Amino acid sequence: MNDRISVVWNITRLCPFACSFCCVSAVHVKNFQQISPNNDDTPVLAGELSFRCQVDIVDQMDADDFRIDFSGGDVLINPRNIDLVLYTSAKFGSDNVSLSIPGTFLTNWVLDRLLGKVSDIEITLDNLPSVKDDSRPLGYPKIATESLKRLVEHGFRVGVQTVLKQENMNANTLEGLHHLLVNIGVQKWSLLKFFPVGRYFQRSHYVPSDKTYQETVEFIQGLTVNSPVKVHFQYLMPQCEKHDFRCRAVSRSIGILPSGKVNACFWALNRRGEPLSDFLLGKLPEENIYDVLKSEKAEHWRCQQRIVNNCELFERMEVK
Ligand SMILES: C[S@@+](CC[C@H](N)C(=O)[O-])C[C@H]1O[C@@H](n2cnc3c(N)ncnc32)[C@H](O)[C@@H]1O
Ligand code: SF4
Repeated sequence: MNDRISVVWNITRLCPFACSFCCVSAVHVKNFQQISPNNDDTPVLAGELSFRCQVDIVDQMDADDFRIDFSGGDVLINPRNIDLVLYTSAKFGSDNVSLSIPGTFLTNWVLDRLLGKVSDIEITLDNLPSVKDDSRPLGYPKIATESLKRLVEHGFRVGVQTVLKQENMNANTLEGLHHLLVNIGVQKWSLLKFFPVGRYFQRSHYVPSDKTYQETVEFIQGLTVNSPVKVHFQYLMPQCEKHDFRCRAVSRSIGILPSGKVNACFWALNRRGEPLSDFLLGKLPEENIYDVLKSEKAEHWRCQQRIVNNCELFERMEVK
């Protein structure tokens, strides 16, 4: 392989939040309780992988071939997941391991274990702590903001992911968010498109139009022209420069789900957080990752990169 394949590995669907638009249809754990791993290594949630199986997957991967973003659910809800992050980091190098988390369970013990072992940590913040955002549970932005501060203070490279959707695509919110990120010392701001998947499966009318996205991109570009925060627009986002994109499924990235299923595109999830059938490539660790990536189905997706401006997923969802 030449370039590393980016893997978004959702290691669990367990999460202390229940966001209404959650793309993985996370399984809600009440009262912000952390989960204790079972002594016999059986998965805490039926259908998810045991730690041993997760390690087997990492062992299958050559250290030069992959870059892994651990996501969920909430990675930190189960302390055992941190062992997997550290194991992966020791093999791939800290530059090739990152975390996307909601910001809960960041104790000093966790921060000390992770420091120097991951390239960066990204936390989602879609709205200002003072605003009630219907797509997030009450209290979410406050927890995320406090966690961002703690991560910066601890010396992590910190990013914020913001899903651009109706609730936050206005000047006041975006200016307020940018101001907040600058004050906290966040280094990167990733702007994501909204996907009608998971809990919002096929609710395509909720996706803002390309024109609205384009205007918002232009607004953010103006807002951040001299900003210390590095701004990154997701490749599917309509941009103001002449824009074309190519499908990245398999050619550049894949998803691994809590069950070990391999998804050609990590966004292609149905209401239950399962891969859409055409996108399902195989299941690890029973199958070997290299065999999965050599399969005919994988080759089909790899070829999609040749077609400009074609997202099969959005087409199926009839997103205009
Ligand atoms: C599934 S979450 C997992 C990490 C963590 N639980 C969180 O929410 O940040 C990964 C990213 O996907 C975003 N996300 C969730 N549902 C989405 C959707 N329907 N469309 C686009 N992004 C979504 C989250 O906001 C977050 O930035
Ligand atoms: S979007 Fe993230 S924080 Fe919200 S329920 Fe889903 S996994 Fe949990």
